[in-house]
Parts: sequence; C-alpha cells; structure tokens
Amino acid sequence: MKTEIDGLWVFALAAKCRAFSSDNLFSSVSLLVLLWVGMAFLCWTYPGGPAWGRYRLKRGAKSKPIPGPRGFPVLGSMNLMASLAHRRLAAAAERFGAKRLMAFSLGETRVIVTCNPDVAKEILNSSVFADRPVKESAYSLMFNRAIGFAPYGVYWRTLRRIAATHLFCPKQISNSAAQRFHIAAQMVSIFGSCRGEIRVRDTLKRASLNNIMCSVFGRKYELDSPNNETDELRELVEEGYELLGKLNWSDHLPWLSGFDPQNIRLRCSQLVPKVNQFVNRIIAEHRAEAQTGERKKAAMDFVDVLLSLDGPDKLSEPDMIAVLWEMIFRGTDTVAVLIEWILARIVLHPEIQSKVHEEIDRVVGKSRRVTEEDIQAMVYLPSVVKEVLRVHPPGPLLSWSRLAITDTTVDGRHVPSGTTAMVNMWAISRDPEVWSDPLKFKPDRFVTKDAEVEFSVLGSDLRLAPFGSGRRVCPGKALGLTTVSYWVASLLQEFLWVAADENPVDLSEVLRLSCEMATPLMVKLRPRHV
Ligand code: HEM
Repeated sequence: MKTEIDGLWVFALAAKCRAFSSDNLFSSVSLLVLLWVGMAFLCWTYPGGPAWGRYRLKRGAKSKPIPGPRGFPVLGSMNLMASLAHRRLAAAAERFGAKRLMAFSLGETRVIVTCNPDVAKEILNSSVFADRPVKESAYSLMFNRAIGFAPYGVYWRTLRRIAATHLFCPKQISNSAAQRFHIAAQMVSIFGSCRGEIRVRDTLKRASLNNIMCSVFGRKYELDSPNNETDELRELVEEGYELLGKLNWSDHLPWLSGFDPQNIRLRCSQLVPKVNQFVNRIIAEHRAEAQTGERKKAAMDFVDVLLSLDGPDKLSEPDMIAVLWEMIFRGTDTVAVLIEWILARIVLHPEIQSKVHEEIDRVVGKSRRVTEEDIQAMVYLPSVVKEVLRVHPPGPLLSWSRLAITDTTVDGRHVPSGTTAMVNMWAISRDPEVWSDPLKFKPDRFVTKDAEVEFSVLGSDLRLAPFGSGRRVCPGKALGLTTVSYWVASLLQEFLWVAADENPVDLSEVLRLSCEMATPLMVKLRPRHV
C-alpha cells in the first residue's frame, strides 16, 4: 500500500536544490519528472515488475527474488489479468520457469501466483493467507460485511460459524431437498415441451436463482412463469457480477481512484440502495409473519435462521442484508455455469452419456424419478462431475484471491505482508506432471477400484480443489455439489442429449467472476421414456 511518506523524498530533494524558485520552475519540474521516470524505471527492472521493485528499494532483498514478468513500467502486468487470465498466467509461468511460484505486479499491488499443488496447499492452508485483498467494488457493495470479503477476524469467524452450524449444515441441506426435487421436475417439463434446438442456459440460470431464492428468502416461484421479483433480483445479481468481476484499475493504481475511470464506484452506489430496498422488504415480511405466527408453518429459510440468532451471534440489519445478498450472489451462477459445462461434455461424449444412463437405470430403475439418496449409490455420475470440475473449474483462479496478513515464506521465498496470492487451479488440473493425459476427458480416472479411497474435491487434495481450501474454503460446497449432481441426474434420466446441427458445442471460455461457456450450449433432446 502506498503511504503519504512515499512520494515526499522527491520534494525534499527538490527543496534542497532550491528548485522551487520562480525563475527555474520549468527545470525543477523537469528534474522531478526525470527523477520520477528514473525511479519508475529502476523499480521496473526488478523481477516481478514495479511493485516488487518498489518494495525491494525500500526494504532491501530478504531472499532470492521470485521470478516473474516485469510487465510495463508503473502498470506492471495488468495485461495478464485481461480476458482469460488463467491461461495468460499459466503461459507466463511456463515462460519464466516459475510454475511453483511467480511474482508479478498489478500497478502497485504485489502478486504471487502458483501452478503447483504443494505450493497451493502452503498458501491456502496457511493462517497468514486467511484474508482477502481490498477491492473497492466489494467494499462498495457491502461484501466486506459478508463472509467472502470480511477481513479475517472475530466478525468473519462468527459468520463462518453461523454458516457451518445453521445455513449449510447437513440438516438444512436435506430440508431443502424437496425444493430441488420440485425445480428439477419443472426443468424437465420445460425442456420436454421445447421442440428443435434448445438453448439451456436461461432455464438453468432461472432454476438456480429460484432455488437460491427459496433457500435464502423462502420464496417459491414457478419456473415457466416469469415474475417481477425474480426478474428484479436477476438484474441486481447480473450488475453485481459485472462490477465484482471487472479488473478495477483504481484498486491497483491508487492515484486513479479520484477519477473512477471505469465508473465502477458510480455504478456500485446506484446498485446498493436497490439491493438494500429489496432485501429489507423481505426481512420486514418475515418479521411481520413471525409476529402473526404464520412463519412457524414454513420451512426455515436463511432469513429465519439469521433472525433467530441471539447473543454474540446476533447480526445487525445491514450485516444481515450483506450476508443474504452474498448468498444469492454466490449460489446462483456457480451452479448454473457448472451444469452447462457438464451437459456440454455429455453431448460431446455419447459413450460417457450412455454409461451415466446405464448407472441411473441400474440404481433407480425405470418406474420412478431419481432422488438425492440415489446419488449416494452412484459412482460414475459423481466421477463425471469431478472430471468437469477438473477441466472446466468455474473459478479457475479460485474466484477471489488471498492476502498475506504478515511477512511470510512461501516455497522458501520471502513474501511481504500485503502481497496478494493466487492459485491457478486451472493450470494445476491440466498439468501433465500432476495428471496423466490431462487434456483427455476421462471420468474413469475418478472411479475407485475396490479398496481405493475416493478422490475428494472438497479441499483436502490440492491437485483438484475447485472449492478452494483452508479457512476460506467455500462454505456452500456441499450444497453446490448436491444441487449440481442431482439436477444433472434428473435431466439425464429423462433425456438423451444430442448436439445441435446448426450450433455445434463450442468449448471456448469467457472469464467473468466465473468461467462460463463463451457460446451458450445448444442441444436437441430425445425423451428416453416414451
Ligand atoms: C459449484 C458451485 C461452487 C463453486 C465451484 C464455488 C467455488 C468457490 C471458491 C473457489 C471459493 C474461494 C475459496 C478459497 O478462497 O479458498 C468460494 C468461496 C465462497 N463461496 Fe463458493 N462455490 C460454489 C457454490 C457456492 C454456493 C452454493 C454458495 C452459497 C450459497 C457459496 C458461497 C461462498 C462463500 C460465502 C464464499 C466465501 C468464503 C470465505 O471467504 O470465507 N458458494 N466458492
């Protein structure tokens, strides 16, 4: 972080040279500019670029430098974060022989990134990296009071405890099974009534939003009849996604922040009152229903849970809004994005699709609908989900980075406090030194034989940890996986998924907050049970 003192040496020097006298104003300004350019150049020559150079100049070398691109003077390697950042970072790490640990600069921000599972474990499981870097949009959108961006400390730990014991505990997840069952049936009915080539994304996103609206706010909507409330929320979520997913130049070049060049601050300030109004209305309705005794009849949703908290766990109203809004925000797109990738792979690999069909028919039979309990008895479908998480992780850079709270050592190199740390999960899960045939789509690699232990994707094995790992691991991972696996099973039980003639499957990616298919999936469906 830049301090006020940082720039003062230039003025002190200039004052000593009497450079501010009116007759040589021009030469003193030129001198200052030259000095500034000289310093910027000097910083830039250091491995990792200007932010690392500045640190080295101020504090000296504490260990061998971490290799990495210099990027551009002042700006550093902002270009690496444009478009498909996970691919650019992986290519740069390869170029610099820095797959274990690479340093680079985003303006004044020092960053490290690893493409190695052991170093990833060192970072994600260390308490030093239990914080998240400051992001203006996250703060403006109140996320600093929600789990994802709350600074590491008592408040964040309280939220994590509430999440683990109330919101995502097995009981709460199984309580919402009926709603997932109902929404799956609605999706099947919508897809079944479509003719010709179908674009699946819109239905998946609406299903996912309806599902999370039900878990969080207790709202139940029919999937085939649009309504104002979900439309309104969809717009709020889309806008929030866009704002949080953008690389905000002001986060890394503080001298730009006064200008808000990408209008991010302005857009956040327009969005927040709408979110407040929306969530406030729902909380007020819950309170009113609780007073009349009406709420007792309904299943507990997240609002009920938060309202029922007492003592040290009790949250203020603005904090509740932040937590609830984040849940809607995090739980909607990740699920829909992952299902679209799974269906794309199912269409591309008919032999894999028939193995899933066989398994569903064997476990469930042909006379009833698949249930969530049936998934426990399946081996191949969960392996397909894992293989898709390997080749198309929704968060290829684990979505949100970590921040070093104190000076530390990573892979034997000194990493100063305030450094941002990233894990390139996409690169790890495609590394031929980690996975055999990494580019081949092969779910069988996850099918366990006899005494073998099942591969867990929940954060214990960093060769594939799409939900992150350590203290900040995704708290919604069990709910997310349950929803995805069950809905995929339901959609495959009913239909044979075939490639569309006009629009073949295109696996190109676009990286927003999640990594989505750049071209929405189009398919043709054949009912399996006529
Ligand atoms: C397929 C579905 C999902 C994927 C792939 C996913 C992935 C992730 C990842 C990679 C992280 C960062 C972890 C880290 O820093 O180590 C994360 C954090 C988080 N996720 Fe998920 N997620 C999914 C579903 C959900 C759902 C359904 C919810 C809630 C409804 C949720 C809520 C959160 C929250 C609140 C955090 C921040 C945790 C913290 O900073 O303490 N996620 N997720």
